[in-house]
Amino acid sequence: MEAAGRTTTACVTGAGGFVASWLVKLLLSRSRYTVRGTVRDPGNAKNAHLAALDGAGERLRLLKAELLDYGSMAAAIAGCDVVFHVACPVLDAPTPDPEAEILAPAVTGSINVLKACSEAKVKRVVVVSSVSAVMVNPNWPRGKVMDEDCWTDVDYCRTTQNWYCLAKTLAEREAFAYAKTSGLDVVTVCPSLVIGPLLQPTVNASTAIIVDYLKGEREVENKTRNFVDVRDVVDALVLVCETPEVSGRYICSSYSWKVSDVIGLLKSMYPTYKFANKFVQVSDEPSYSSQKLEMLGWKIKPLEETLRDSVESYKAAGFLD
Ligand SMILES: NC(=O)c1ccc[n+]([C@@H]2O[C@H](COP(=O)([O-])OP(=O)(O)OC[C@H]3O[C@@H](n4cnc5c(N)ncnc54)[C@H](OP(=O)(O)O)[C@@H]3O)[C@@H](O)[C@H]2O)c1
Repeated sequence: MEAAGRTTTACVTGAGGFVASWLVKLLLSRSRYTVRGTVRDPGNAKNAHLAALDGAGERLRLLKAELLDYGSMAAAIAGCDVVFHVACPVLDAPTPDPEAEILAPAVTGSINVLKACSEAKVKRVVVVSSVSAVMVNPNWPRGKVMDEDCWTDVDYCRTTQNWYCLAKTLAEREAFAYAKTSGLDVVTVCPSLVIGPLLQPTVNASTAIIVDYLKGEREVENKTRNFVDVRDVVDALVLVCETPEVSGRYICSSYSWKVSDVIGLLKSMYPTYKFANKFVQVSDEPSYSSQKLEMLGWKIKPLEETLRDSVESYKAAGFLD
């Protein structure tokens, strides 16, 4: 999305989070990018890793912004060429107030970001959605691999109180509706469970799932699950941003594995951990096709590499003590 030799100013919302931190790192590794990262609390130690990234001193600026505060998002986005909208609450426990804690920031917050992008005449917005906006579809033919045509059924989510899937689906649908009426160039990327090493000092919700497998303190759900390496996710985000001829949504998922087999592989690599051994059998997740993304040249890491780098990162951070 930029002419050769020009610099690109990119905004990354929720810059201190798991996925966004890797995205900021990737953008800074390419000298043509200047990055504006939004964080809710720039002084908080949980965001300190960003300032330590290579290139941060010269090309990263952190701005305080909250998704529901339009003015703060607009100030961060003004003057940007491209925006990666990554921020969204990803909770690791149910909340008594899903409207305030999940739906409003996910849906109204996204609309705020998109409106600010229109106002700033941003050239492309890459929205991080999720397979949560794909997979909850009781009408999809059983056994058929899910592709970008499959959308989560919002009524079914309301009935089953599946607030995160509802929020991600409404946010993605609203993004495309807004793009249609405003002419804003919006593409979405829908990752499955994102795993891999951490840059941030805290355990995010998807990392907690793998930490649980290793620590073996809790019963785990055994099912076929879909995984993707965080570094492959951010490669996908930059790929769709930089490829002129993209459109619509892109599923971003690398592996479909039984949880018990992932734990078996981890055990073969790290035999000394305790590991989950109490399983409750639940329905398998569907499988997804990332072919649309692969056609753009997207490549993935072997699962062994992702798991090894994850465990080494958890060990270094003391999460397995
Ligand atoms: N991890 C996965 O398995 C996975 C899979 C598919 C899609 N996704 C999507 O990927 C994105 C990033 O997820 P993640 O795993 O990196 O989660 P994360 O580490 O929890 O990061 C979420 C980020 O969103 C920010 N945020 C939350 N509510 C906000 C609000 N009201 N205003 C401003 N910022 C807010 C958080 O800021 P604070 O630090 O201030 O809380 C944090 O920086 C999300 O859109 C998520 O839905 C994740």
